[in-house]
Amino acid sequence: MGLEHNQQNAPRFRRLRQNSSIRSLIQEKTLSVSDLIWPIFVIEGQNEAIDIPTMPGVQRLTIDKAIEAAKFAKKMGIPALCIFPCVDVKLKSEMCEEAWNTNNLSNRAVAAIKSAVPDILIMTDIALDPYNINGHDGIVKNGIILNDQTVEALVKMAIAQAKSGADILGPSDMMDGRIGSIRTALESSGYYDVIILSYSAKYASAFYGPFRDAVGASNLLIGDKRTYQADPSNSDEALRLVARDLAEGADMVMIKPGMPYLDVCRRVKDTFLVPTFAYQVSGEYGMLMAAFNCGMLEEESAMLESLLSFKRAGCDGVLTYFAPKLAKILNER
Ligand code: PBG
Repeated sequence: MGLEHNQQNAPRFRRLRQNSSIRSLIQEKTLSVSDLIWPIFVIEGQNEAIDIPTMPGVQRLTIDKAIEAAKFAKKMGIPALCIFPCVDVKLKSEMCEEAWNTNNLSNRAVAAIKSAVPDILIMTDIALDPYNINGHDGIVKNGIILNDQTVEALVKMAIAQAKSGADILGPSDMMDGRIGSIRTALESSGYYDVIILSYSAKYASAFYGPFRDAVGASNLLIGDKRTYQADPSNSDEALRLVARDLAEGADMVMIKPGMPYLDVCRRVKDTFLVPTFAYQVSGEYGMLMAAFNCGMLEEESAMLESLLSFKRAGCDGVLTYFAPKLAKILNER
Protein backbone atom coordinates (compact mmCIF):
# COMPACT_ATOMS: atom_id res chain seq x y z
CA MET A 1 0.00 0.00 0.00
CA GLY A 2 2.61 2.62 0.85
CA LEU A 3 2.00 6.21 1.78
CA GLU A 4 -0.33 8.59 -0.06
CA HIS A 5 1.06 9.83 -3.38
CA ASN A 6 1.84 13.33 -2.11
CA GLN A 7 3.97 11.85 0.70
CA GLN A 8 5.98 9.47 -1.49
CA ASN A 9 9.16 11.55 -1.51
CA ALA A 10 8.85 12.63 2.08
CA PRO A 11 11.79 11.50 4.13
CA ARG A 12 11.43 8.13 5.81
CA PHE A 13 13.79 8.54 8.74
CA ARG A 14 13.24 4.91 9.63
CA ARG A 15 15.29 3.86 6.53
CA LEU A 16 18.44 4.85 8.38
CA ARG A 17 17.38 3.14 11.58
CA GLN A 18 16.50 -0.28 10.29
CA ASN A 19 19.51 -2.17 11.62
CA SER A 20 22.52 -1.61 13.82
CA SER A 21 24.96 -1.39 10.88
CA ILE A 22 23.24 1.56 9.27
CA ARG A 23 22.60 3.13 12.65
CA SER A 24 26.28 2.98 13.56
CA LEU A 25 27.29 4.26 10.12
CA ILE A 26 25.35 7.50 10.55
CA GLN A 27 26.09 8.14 14.22
CA GLU A 28 27.00 11.79 14.71
CA LYS A 29 28.66 11.40 18.09
CA THR A 30 30.21 8.49 19.89
CA LEU A 31 31.50 8.04 23.39
CA SER A 32 34.95 6.59 23.82
CA VAL A 33 37.19 5.71 26.75
CA SER A 34 39.55 8.44 25.58
CA ASP A 35 36.87 11.03 26.48
CA LEU A 36 37.02 10.25 30.19
CA ILE A 37 38.68 11.85 33.19
CA TRP A 38 38.25 9.77 36.34
CA PRO A 39 37.99 11.72 39.64
CA ILE A 40 39.29 9.78 42.64
CA PHE A 41 39.43 10.55 46.37
CA VAL A 42 42.57 9.88 48.37
CA ILE A 43 43.11 9.42 52.10
CA GLU A 44 46.06 8.77 54.40
CA GLY A 45 46.89 5.19 55.31
CA GLN A 46 47.77 1.92 53.75
CA ASN A 47 45.79 -0.64 51.80
CA GLU A 48 42.38 0.82 52.49
CA ALA A 49 39.37 1.63 50.32
CA ILE A 50 36.57 3.23 52.32
CA ASP A 51 33.03 3.50 50.99
CA ILE A 52 31.40 6.91 50.67
CA PRO A 53 27.78 6.41 51.73
CA THR A 54 26.34 9.18 49.50
CA MET A 55 28.32 7.97 46.46
CA PRO A 56 27.56 4.25 46.12
CA GLY A 57 30.40 2.47 44.32
CA VAL A 58 32.96 5.23 44.97
CA GLN A 59 35.62 4.84 47.64
CA ARG A 60 38.29 6.93 49.29
CA LEU A 61 41.61 5.28 48.47
CA THR A 62 44.94 5.21 50.25
CA ILE A 63 47.84 6.13 47.95
CA ASP A 64 48.83 2.49 47.29
CA LYS A 65 45.22 1.78 46.25
CA ALA A 66 45.18 4.94 44.14
CA ILE A 67 48.22 3.58 42.30
CA GLU A 68 46.26 0.40 41.59
CA ALA A 69 43.42 2.56 40.26
CA ALA A 70 45.88 4.38 38.01
CA LYS A 71 47.23 1.07 36.68
CA PHE A 72 43.69 -0.04 35.97
CA ALA A 73 42.95 3.26 34.22
CA LYS A 74 46.07 2.90 32.11
CA LYS A 75 45.15 -0.66 31.14
CA MET A 76 41.62 0.43 30.24
CA GLY A 77 42.75 3.44 28.18
CA ILE A 78 41.37 6.17 30.49
CA PRO A 79 43.72 9.08 29.71
CA ALA A 80 43.50 11.03 32.97
CA LEU A 81 42.79 10.81 36.69
CA CYS A 82 41.77 13.77 38.84
CA ILE A 83 42.91 13.67 42.47
CA PHE A 84 40.84 15.01 45.37
CA PRO A 85 42.28 14.68 48.88
CA CYS A 86 40.23 13.98 51.97
CA VAL A 87 42.30 15.88 54.50
CA ASP A 88 42.42 15.25 58.25
CA VAL A 89 40.54 18.00 60.08
CA LYS A 90 43.63 18.61 62.24
CA LEU A 91 45.40 19.94 59.12
CA LYS A 92 42.63 22.39 58.24
CA SER A 93 43.11 26.01 59.22
CA GLU A 94 41.89 29.57 58.64
CA MET A 95 44.78 30.35 56.26
CA CYS A 96 44.82 26.89 54.64
CA GLU A 97 48.62 26.54 54.80
CA GLU A 98 48.46 22.79 54.15
CA ALA A 99 47.24 23.56 50.62
CA TRP A 100 50.72 24.49 49.41
CA ASN A 101 52.70 22.00 51.47
CA THR A 102 54.69 20.18 48.78
CA ASN A 103 54.44 17.06 50.89
CA ASN A 104 50.68 17.16 51.52
CA LEU A 105 48.47 14.15 50.82
CA SER A 106 47.44 15.29 47.35
CA ASN A 107 50.99 16.12 46.24
CA ARG A 108 52.34 12.84 47.60
CA ALA A 109 49.57 10.99 45.75
CA VAL A 110 50.40 12.80 42.51
CA ALA A 111 54.13 12.06 42.82
CA ALA A 112 53.53 8.40 43.72
CA ILE A 113 51.11 7.81 40.87
CA LYS A 114 53.33 9.60 38.36
CA SER A 115 56.30 7.48 39.33
CA ALA A 116 54.31 4.21 39.21
CA VAL A 117 52.34 5.01 36.04
CA PRO A 118 54.29 7.76 34.27
CA ASP A 119 52.17 8.11 31.18
CA ILE A 120 48.77 8.60 32.76
CA LEU A 121 47.74 12.25 32.99
CA ILE A 122 47.19 13.52 36.51
CA MET A 123 44.85 16.40 37.07
CA THR A 124 44.60 18.23 40.40
CA ASP A 125 42.09 20.58 41.94
CA ILE A 126 43.05 24.10 42.93
CA ALA A 127 40.75 25.41 45.64
CA LEU A 128 41.21 25.81 49.37
CA ASP A 129 38.15 23.88 50.56
CA PRO A 130 39.90 20.60 51.53
CA TYR A 131 42.27 22.63 53.74
CA ASN A 132 39.90 25.29 55.03
CA ILE A 133 38.46 25.07 58.50
CA ASN A 134 35.50 27.05 57.09
CA GLY A 135 34.87 24.62 54.25
CA HIS A 136 35.04 27.47 51.72
CA ASP A 137 37.15 27.61 48.57
CA GLY A 138 38.63 30.92 49.66
CA ILE A 139 40.12 32.53 52.76
CA VAL A 140 37.36 33.85 55.01
CA LYS A 141 37.65 36.99 57.15
CA ASN A 142 34.65 38.22 59.13
CA GLY A 143 32.35 36.17 56.97
CA ILE A 144 33.75 37.60 53.69
CA ILE A 145 35.63 35.50 51.13
CA LEU A 146 38.78 37.44 50.31
CA ASN A 147 39.52 37.30 46.60
CA ASP A 148 43.09 38.51 46.19
CA GLN A 149 44.50 36.88 49.32
CA THR A 150 42.92 33.63 48.14
CA VAL A 151 44.53 33.99 44.71
CA GLU A 152 47.95 34.37 46.35
CA ALA A 153 47.35 31.11 48.20
CA LEU A 154 46.11 29.39 45.04
CA VAL A 155 49.27 30.39 43.19
CA LYS A 156 51.41 28.74 45.87
CA MET A 157 49.15 25.69 45.71
CA ALA A 158 49.50 25.53 41.92
CA ILE A 159 53.29 25.67 42.04
CA ALA A 160 53.40 22.91 44.66
CA GLN A 161 51.17 20.75 42.48
CA ALA A 162 53.26 21.41 39.38
CA LYS A 163 56.37 20.51 41.38
CA SER A 164 54.79 17.20 42.42
CA GLY A 165 54.35 16.33 38.73
CA ALA A 166 50.71 17.21 38.02
CA ASP A 167 50.04 17.47 34.29
CA ILE A 168 46.75 19.37 34.39
CA LEU A 169 45.81 21.94 37.02
CA GLY A 170 42.11 22.48 37.62
CA PRO A 171 41.34 25.75 39.38
CA SER A 172 37.86 25.15 40.78
CA ASP A 173 37.69 28.02 43.25
CA MET A 174 36.02 30.71 41.08
CA MET A 175 38.07 33.61 42.45
CA ASP A 176 38.63 36.42 39.94
CA GLY A 177 42.05 36.66 38.36
CA ARG A 178 43.30 33.26 39.44
CA ILE A 179 44.04 31.91 35.97
CA GLY A 180 46.26 34.84 35.02
CA SER A 181 48.11 34.75 38.32
CA ILE A 182 48.64 30.99 38.16
CA ARG A 183 49.78 31.09 34.52
CA THR A 184 52.25 33.89 35.23
CA ALA A 185 53.69 31.98 38.18
CA LEU A 186 53.97 28.75 36.17
CA GLU A 187 55.78 30.55 33.37
CA SER A 188 58.20 32.31 35.68
CA SER A 189 58.94 29.04 37.50
CA GLY A 190 59.70 27.17 34.28
CA TYR A 191 56.54 25.04 34.22
CA TYR A 192 55.81 25.94 30.62
CA ASP A 193 54.07 22.68 29.78
CA VAL A 194 51.66 22.47 32.70
CA ILE A 195 48.12 22.55 31.37
CA ILE A 196 45.33 24.60 32.96
CA LEU A 197 41.82 23.21 32.67
CA SER A 198 39.82 26.00 34.21
CA TYR A 199 36.56 25.34 35.96
CA SER A 200 35.41 28.48 34.17
CA ALA A 201 31.65 28.13 34.39
CA LYS A 202 31.21 26.59 37.78
CA TYR A 203 27.77 27.13 39.22
CA ALA A 204 26.62 27.47 42.83
CA SER A 205 24.88 24.13 42.62
CA ALA A 206 22.94 21.85 44.91
CA PHE A 207 24.52 18.88 43.12
CA TYR A 208 27.87 18.98 44.97
CA GLY A 209 26.51 17.58 48.24
CA PRO A 210 27.93 14.05 48.04
CA PHE A 211 31.38 15.38 47.03
CA ARG A 212 31.47 17.60 50.11
CA ASP A 213 30.74 14.49 52.18
CA ALA A 214 33.51 12.62 50.35
CA VAL A 215 36.17 15.24 51.13
CA GLY A 216 34.83 15.88 54.63
CA ALA A 217 33.80 19.50 53.97
CA SER A 218 30.03 19.22 54.48
CA ASN A 219 29.97 19.73 58.23
CA LEU A 220 32.43 22.60 58.14
CA LEU A 221 30.85 24.75 55.45
CA ILE A 222 29.26 27.88 56.88
CA GLY A 223 26.79 29.51 54.49
CA ASP A 224 26.98 28.84 50.77
CA LYS A 225 29.28 29.56 47.82
CA ARG A 226 27.05 32.02 45.97
CA THR A 227 29.42 35.00 46.25
CA TYR A 228 31.97 33.21 44.08
CA GLN A 229 30.28 30.39 42.14
CA ALA A 230 28.00 31.44 39.26
CA ASP A 231 24.25 31.91 39.53
CA PRO A 232 22.36 29.00 37.92
CA SER A 233 20.12 31.59 36.22
CA ASN A 234 22.90 32.81 33.94
CA SER A 235 24.48 31.52 30.77
CA ASP A 236 25.64 34.74 29.04
CA GLU A 237 27.84 35.12 32.09
CA ALA A 238 29.37 31.69 31.40
CA LEU A 239 30.57 32.96 28.03
CA ARG A 240 32.19 35.98 29.65
CA LEU A 241 33.84 33.76 32.26
CA VAL A 242 35.25 31.47 29.58
CA ALA A 243 36.47 34.43 27.48
CA ARG A 244 38.20 35.85 30.54
CA ASP A 245 39.88 32.57 31.53
CA LEU A 246 41.11 31.91 27.98
CA ALA A 247 42.53 35.42 27.78
CA GLU A 248 44.31 34.82 31.11
CA GLY A 249 45.97 31.62 29.93
CA ALA A 250 43.62 28.65 30.35
CA ASP A 251 44.22 25.87 27.79
CA MET A 252 40.88 24.14 28.26
CA VAL A 253 37.63 25.03 30.00
CA MET A 254 35.01 23.24 32.02
CA ILE A 255 31.31 23.59 32.71
CA LYS A 256 30.10 22.24 36.03
CA PRO A 257 27.72 20.59 36.90
CA GLY A 258 27.07 18.72 33.67
CA MET A 259 23.64 17.40 32.85
CA PRO A 260 21.67 20.40 34.18
CA TYR A 261 23.97 22.73 32.17
CA LEU A 262 24.18 21.11 28.74
CA ASP A 263 22.89 24.33 27.16
CA VAL A 264 25.95 26.11 28.58
CA CYS A 265 28.26 23.42 27.16
CA ARG A 266 26.80 23.94 23.70
CA ARG A 267 27.05 27.73 23.87
CA VAL A 268 30.65 27.59 25.09
CA LYS A 269 31.72 25.14 22.37
CA ASP A 270 29.97 27.07 19.62
CA THR A 271 31.38 30.39 20.75
CA PHE A 272 35.01 29.52 21.52
CA LEU A 273 35.84 26.28 19.65
CA VAL A 274 38.27 25.32 22.42
CA PRO A 275 38.67 21.99 24.25
CA THR A 276 35.55 21.92 26.41
CA PHE A 277 34.83 19.62 29.31
CA ALA A 278 31.91 19.01 31.61
CA TYR A 279 31.93 17.60 35.11
CA GLN A 280 29.17 15.09 35.76
CA VAL A 281 29.26 15.88 39.46
CA SER A 282 28.69 13.82 42.57
CA GLY A 283 24.98 14.67 42.86
CA GLU A 284 24.33 13.65 39.26
CA TYR A 285 26.21 10.43 39.88
CA GLY A 286 24.35 9.84 43.14
CA MET A 287 20.99 10.51 41.54
CA LEU A 288 21.62 8.01 38.76
CA MET A 289 23.04 5.41 41.13
CA ALA A 290 19.99 5.73 43.38
CA ALA A 291 17.77 5.09 40.37
CA PHE A 292 19.87 2.08 39.31
CA ASN A 293 19.97 0.63 42.80
CA CYS A 294 16.22 0.70 43.26
CA GLY A 295 15.61 -0.77 39.82
CA MET A 296 14.05 2.40 38.40
CA LEU A 297 16.53 2.77 35.52
CA GLU A 298 18.60 0.22 33.66
CA GLU A 299 22.19 0.98 34.59
CA GLU A 300 24.24 0.42 31.48
CA SER A 301 22.01 2.13 28.95
CA ALA A 302 21.12 5.09 31.18
CA MET A 303 24.78 5.61 32.08
CA LEU A 304 25.87 5.55 28.44
CA GLU A 305 23.04 7.88 27.41
CA SER A 306 23.93 10.34 30.16
CA LEU A 307 27.53 10.47 28.91
CA LEU A 308 26.62 10.69 25.26
CA SER A 309 24.57 13.80 26.04
CA PHE A 310 27.80 15.62 26.83
CA LYS A 311 29.34 14.70 23.49
CA ARG A 312 26.19 15.86 21.71
CA ALA A 313 26.31 19.15 23.63
CA GLY A 314 29.80 19.77 22.22
CA CYS A 315 32.04 18.52 25.00
CA ASP A 316 35.35 16.90 24.12
CA GLY A 317 35.50 15.02 27.37
CA VAL A 318 33.81 14.49 30.72
CA LEU A 319 34.89 14.11 34.32
CA THR A 320 32.75 11.29 35.64
CA TYR A 321 32.72 8.88 38.55
CA PHE A 322 31.37 6.30 36.11
CA ALA A 323 34.72 6.27 34.27
CA PRO A 324 35.93 2.81 35.40
CA LYS A 325 32.56 1.16 34.72
CA LEU A 326 32.20 2.91 31.39
CA ALA A 327 35.71 1.91 30.37
CA LYS A 328 34.88 -1.75 30.97
CA ILE A 329 31.66 -1.52 28.99
CA LEU A 330 33.21 0.42 26.11
CA ASN A 331 36.21 -1.89 25.90
CA GLU A 332 34.03 -4.99 25.79
CA ARG A 333 31.98 -3.73 22.86
C1 PBG B 1 35.99 22.16 45.28
C2 PBG B 1 35.26 21.27 44.37
C3 PBG B 1 33.92 20.87 44.46
C4 PBG B 1 33.73 19.92 43.46
C5 PBG B 1 34.95 19.79 42.76
N1 PBG B 1 35.88 20.66 43.33
C6 PBG B 1 32.86 21.19 45.45
C7 PBG B 1 32.39 22.55 45.64
O1 PBG B 1 32.68 23.47 44.88
O2 PBG B 1 31.70 22.75 46.63
C8 PBG B 1 32.47 19.17 43.22
C9 PBG B 1 32.60 17.89 42.50
C10 PBG B 1 31.42 17.01 42.62
O3 PBG B 1 30.38 17.37 43.20
O4 PBG B 1 31.52 15.88 42.12
N2 PBG B 1 36.13 23.45 44.96
